Amino acid sequence: MAMIGKEQIEEIRARCNVVEVVGAYLPQLRRRGSTFKCNCPFHQEKTPSFTVNETRQIFHCFGCGAGGDVFRFVMDYEKVDFVTAVKILAERAGVEIQYEGGQPEGGSDKDILYKLHREAAAFYHRLLVEGVEGAEARRYLEERDLPPDMIKAFQIGFAPNEWDGLMKRALKKGYTVEQLEDAGLVVPSERAGQKSSYDRFRNRIMFPICDQMGRVIGFSGRIMNKAEKGAKYVNSPETALFRKNQVLFAFDKARKAIVDARQAIVVEGQIDAIRCHQAGMDNVVASQGTALTENHARLIKRYADEVVLVLDADAAGVKAALASSEIFIATELSVRVVTLPEKEDPDSLIKNSGAEALTSLVKTAPSALDFLIDCLGRQEDMGTEAGRMRIVKAVLNLIGKCPSAARRDPMIHRAADLLNISPQALSQDLRREQRQQRPVSRAAEESVPERQLAKTRPKEEIALLELLVHHYNDVQSLVHDYLPVGCLVDPVCRELVELLMVDHPEALTEGFHDFNEETQRVISSVQVEESRGIDAETLPIELAQRYILLFWQRQLEQEQAALARRTDVTNEERFKESSRIRHDLFALKQGWDRALPMIEARLHSDF
Ligand code: CTP
Ligand code: MN
Repeated sequence: MAMIGKEQIEEIRARCNVVEVVGAYLPQLRRRGSTFKCNCPFHQEKTPSFTVNETRQIFHCFGCGAGGDVFRFVMDYEKVDFVTAVKILAERAGVEIQYEGGQPEGGSDKDILYKLHREAAAFYHRLLVEGVEGAEARRYLEERDLPPDMIKAFQIGFAPNEWDGLMKRALKKGYTVEQLEDAGLVVPSERAGQKSSYDRFRNRIMFPICDQMGRVIGFSGRIMNKAEKGAKYVNSPETALFRKNQVLFAFDKARKAIVDARQAIVVEGQIDAIRCHQAGMDNVVASQGTALTENHARLIKRYADEVVLVLDADAAGVKAALASSEIFIATELSVRVVTLPEKEDPDSLIKNSGAEALTSLVKTAPSALDFLIDCLGRQEDMGTEAGRMRIVKAVLNLIGKCPSAARRDPMIHRAADLLNISPQALSQDLRREQRQQRPVSRAAEESVPERQLAKTRPKEEIALLELLVHHYNDVQSLVHDYLPVGCLVDPVCRELVELLMVDHPEALTEGFHDFNEETQRVISSVQVEESRGIDAETLPIELAQRYILLFWQRQLEQEQAALARRTDVTNEERFKESSRIRHDLFALKQGWDRALPMIEARLHSDF
């Protein structure tokens, strides 16, 4: 079986600084003293307990217990296995993987699909920029005022007017028709019982769609002139890489700006997004004409507190804005809605009236709630009770989507104000509505995935491990000499303390992947922060003595309890043994110097 060698894994690890890798996924990561922190991507939280330690090259979340090294982070974040995580990081670090025992057969499908998309995008882009075939497309983009730097930044391309323009070249490069079909680049077809697949994208301007890491995962192709028959846009179908309800166009390019502004602006079209970026509005992404989903909301929520929806002024746009608002509000994002002037989209508005026209609309955009009341106010007759009730119902429906009471409260007051109803009446009705129509979204509850719940381990055993890891030279021999490791009750702590009795703490990092996931988590949690309990007054060795005494005490108390239950001893034996335990327990409470002879005696006696 083809395998990746240990040295290569270490080489990749050495080249992938955990702070940089995690930071690429979570740009909100910030230095806090000796470590880096941000909100944990693995569970919902409001105060950052997710910590990355650069010196030790590990991450750990004190909230949910997730933790490990750079490979574990990619595994958990991308939901991939170890080998895939290694490959992702290898590509990032520019390390060419040499498989032991030859290349793996076929490789993993996704890897090939990524590579195929990357090469297809490069092919289309080259044709657009310098191909003879691309002349008309170049002219079209020029007419639309899309300048070369944007064409380059977004790797816009041109699909030739051929049935097999892409297929021919891909087959020559060694790809199979099946892989091309799996990528959605080629449409499977049969003619007269014969397979005759053809290029999906022909004679179109090609917009590569990237995932949040900037890898091309699909395309959207636009026709160049209206006269041509066929859809205005042809998009990649759903594939192993491309899930339309999860990607937002330009997200990879907007991510940093979104984090900095804590705000994402969502427009509909690719060209709209590109135009905004061109105008310096870097936190803009495009929904690509589909309905926004919870997946989109969660993606944005990782980086932003607020979403501004920019949608067409028509009825469909309003409906879409309201549906999207609900989804975003349920994810605890603040939502504001921009209504564009009639017959304009962001692209045309910027071209006709300048970027300031759009930025000022964004700045002054009403909240989703105000937007809703304004829309309904125009549709319904506020003068009639029925009309008013319909508005109230819609308003309560929107507010009810918000999981946080603290966020609901100002919404209720605002709505009450606008509708001229008392806030008390409105919140009473809200409660009634909610009783009637559960389940309300629980998306934002502080939910910790079961798997990641740090199993509660004895605090003092974890503390002992911390002490050993951080003050190894001070305490190792003392612990080694006076602590019977068998008295640790937690199997993971015991395993690790045992290891530290015969090896250095570096062994935990070096052999990290030989441990199971639970153990990895404990390792990163003890490595990530300085050991607790150490202060100016307490030396590591004193703390170690305290723990050793504590574990002995726990051990003796257990022995005493067990003794009381034993039936195979005479009363006299029981009494003798029990007084000895009591005597030793007393010694333990007198401090290290008084307890030491007793510990030595016990360690050297045979039982
Ligand atoms: N769209 C699509 N399929 C269509 C029409 C539209 O996927 N048949 C998506 C595209 O992502 C498009 C977006 O919906 O960008 C908005 O559509 P539209 O407003 O028609 O296009 P524009 O973005 O304005 O594109 P253009 O300016 O080139 O007309
Ligand atoms: Mn347009």
